[in-house]
Amino acid sequence: MPRFRRGRSSPAHDPPQPRFDKRFYNMRTIHDPAEFRRLCRELRAALENSQPGPLRRLGFVPTMGALHAGHLALVAASRARDQATLASIFVNPLQFGPQEDLARYPRTLAADQAALSQAGVALLFAPAPEAMYPGGFSTRVEVEGLSQRLCGASRPGHFRGVATVVLKLLLLCRPETLYLGRKDAAQVAILRRMISDLNLETSLEIVPIVRDADGLALSSRNLYLSPGERATALALSRALRRIADAYARGERLAQRALAAGRAELQSPALALEYLAAVNADSLLPVEQLGPGALVALAARVGATRLIDNFMILADGEVQL
Ligand code: PAJ
Repeated sequence: MPRFRRGRSSPAHDPPQPRFDKRFYNMRTIHDPAEFRRLCRELRAALENSQPGPLRRLGFVPTMGALHAGHLALVAASRARDQATLASIFVNPLQFGPQEDLARYPRTLAADQAALSQAGVALLFAPAPEAMYPGGFSTRVEVEGLSQRLCGASRPGHFRGVATVVLKLLLLCRPETLYLGRKDAAQVAILRRMISDLNLETSLEIVPIVRDADGLALSSRNLYLSPGERATALALSRALRRIADAYARGERLAQRALAAGRAELQSPALALEYLAAVNADSLLPVEQLGPGALVALAARVGATRLIDNFMILADGEVQL
C-alpha cells in the first residue's frame, strides 16, 4: 500500500484527483451507461487540455462491490499512475451460475461509495442489471479454451459472463489502463487474452493479492464465513505457503510441491475443488515450477467457495 501512496497527508484529507476540472472534484455516481460514456469522454477531453505530466490518463477498476482493502489497492495503484480513476460496481448476473450466490451476494453501495470517494475516484459507474442487459441482449464474449480451465471447469459460463461485462465496460469508458487483482488469476489470463485478441487499446496492471494478517486472501465472499469456517479457510493460504516453501527449498517438480500443500487441505470441513500448477497465461498444467507458473486452488468451506493462488515471477520470486 505505501508503495502507491502519494506525497501529501493521509488519503482521507486528499481532495480526490483530478484537480484539473471542478466538475470532477467530487466523485459522481452514474447509473446510466450512455451517461457514463459521455462523462468519460468529457473527462478525457478535460485531461487532454490539462498539463501533460508523467501520469497516464484514465485508469479503470471494475468491481462487484462489497469493497475491501483488496479493491482499494487497485484504486490506489491507479491513483498513483493515472490522472483520473474510474470504478464500477456491478454484480454481474451473467457470470453467476443458476445455483450460485447472485441473490445473496453482498451489496453495500453506500459504504462503497464513501470508500471510493475518499480514495479519490472521479467517476463511479453503478448500473442496474436491466441497464447493462436490456431485453433482447444476446451478445456473449467467449475466450475459448482458457474459459474452461481452473474455475471455468466447475463454473460453466462464468468467464463468458466476465469477458462480456468487462468488454462492455471497457467500451464505455475506454481507459488507458485496466486494473485487476492477482487474486483472480484465471480472470487475468482470460482478460489479457481478450484485450490482445480484440486489439483493445487498454493495458493491464495486475495488483498483488491483499491478505488479512493471518494470511486469508481478502474477498467479498469472506463475509459469508462463520468464525469456525474462517478458521478452516486459513488452510488455503497455509497450503500455498507450504508449496511456495517447497519451491524455495529447490523442489521443481510440480506434483511433488503440490503434495506438500495437499496435506493442509485434508480437513473434513473443506472440500477441495482443484489444486493445480499451471502456466499463468495459458492456464495449462505445468510439470515444472518456475517463472511464469501459477499455483492456484479453489475450495468450498461450508457453502462458500474460496480461491487463492501464488505466482512465480519472472525473476523466480514467489508472489503469494
Ligand atoms: P470482484 O470480485 O469485486 O473483484 C474486483 C477486482 O478486485 C478484481 O480484479 C479482483 O481480482 C480484485 N480483488 C479482489 N480481492 C482482491 C484481493 N484480496 N487482493 C487484490 N485484488 C483483489 O472480479 C470481479 O469482481 C468481477 O469478475 C469483475 C472483474 C468486476 C467483472 O464482473
